[in-house]
Amino acid sequence: MRVLGIESSCDETGVAIYDDKLGLLSHALYSQIKMHAQYGGVVPELASRDHIRVIISLIREALKEANCTKDEIDAVAYTSGPGLIGALMVGATVARSVAYAWHKIAVPVNHMEGHLLAPMLEEDKPEFPFLALLVSGGHTMIIEVKAPGDYHIIGQSVDDAAGEAFDKTAKLLGIEYPGGPLLSKLAKKGSASRFTFPRPMADSKNLDFSFSGLKTFAANTIAKFEGNLDEQTKADIARAFEDAVVDILRIKVKKALKQTKLNRLVIAGGVSANETLRTQMAKLMTSLNGKVYYPRISFCTDNGAMIAYAGLFRYKCGAHSDLAINVLPRWPLDTLCSSNNTNV
Ligand code: KG4
Ligand code: ZN
Repeated sequence: MRVLGIESSCDETGVAIYDDKLGLLSHALYSQIKMHAQYGGVVPELASRDHIRVIISLIREALKEANCTKDEIDAVAYTSGPGLIGALMVGATVARSVAYAWHKIAVPVNHMEGHLLAPMLEEDKPEFPFLALLVSGGHTMIIEVKAPGDYHIIGQSVDDAAGEAFDKTAKLLGIEYPGGPLLSKLAKKGSASRFTFPRPMADSKNLDFSFSGLKTFAANTIAKFEGNLDEQTKADIARAFEDAVVDILRIKVKKALKQTKLNRLVIAGGVSANETLRTQMAKLMTSLNGKVYYPRISFCTDNGAMIAYAGLFRYKCGAHSDLAINVLPRWPLDTLCSSNNTNV
């Protein structure tokens, strides 16, 4: 079985082909980062237009790289939520139309399920059940994953997502979009002892997070310098901020592992590309005689490969969309099924 997967939920257009026997055959990606950087963040209308501009050539590229014709494709999967509605509409419309023209099944995929299953694209992949920390630009969740499709959210952010906090703090430091990876790079030059950021909700009994206070703490710290922030001070603030985010994620994950008695941890979503987070989680799992799994860096952020993989799983579950183009800007992960009742 072979699935063509299309991702277009935000600022990356991704297309990939996944085969259930041969694995990932190809993946093509176009990032809109340069275009949005001029505006300091994603401009939804421009994102939609840019997806339209490149999506067909990416489909051609993915087919060519996989040395595969349309006749060898069984289904066309696409991200149908959550995400920016206009951007989602582009991928959904193209995927639905291509599936119609090729006489194939169209399969709607939840973007967060794509992220969650992305480590399954790696050679060293986790067995089920496992605990997952999903950290992206829009979500921060701890999920007990009993089986593919069986997701129980046991903790989440009550305000900003971790990636959002990285991006907002980066903006305050004058770092250009996308702030997360650049803030992290700057933090490497920073001192761990000059500033200490709080660990919000570290002592709360539940597994929820709050990140918006860290952004405010950064704003207040920066304000004290009255516009005279030198590069070293910026790096020191970036370091203290990153350490706080990673520490709070580590504290909550440790609690969740204890609560669920699981010893396999998956981290996925854009922030899982963060080196400090990967190192700290690896250390934690070693100390607990467990193991951490993550996708390769290029599959932490948005891509078509994870949609093709999740699409194959959903196709096997019997998910398909009718001819109507439906997208869901919000689509909670725990409303998905592990059985064949996944149509939108
Ligand atoms: O998963 P993703 O590509 O898109 C969403 O589904 O939201 O995640 C993007 C987020 C952005 O907030 C970005 O700043 C963050 O992931 N990110 C990072 C790093 N790489 C990406 N944050 C911290 N450190 C990184 N290395
Ligand atoms: Zn994403």
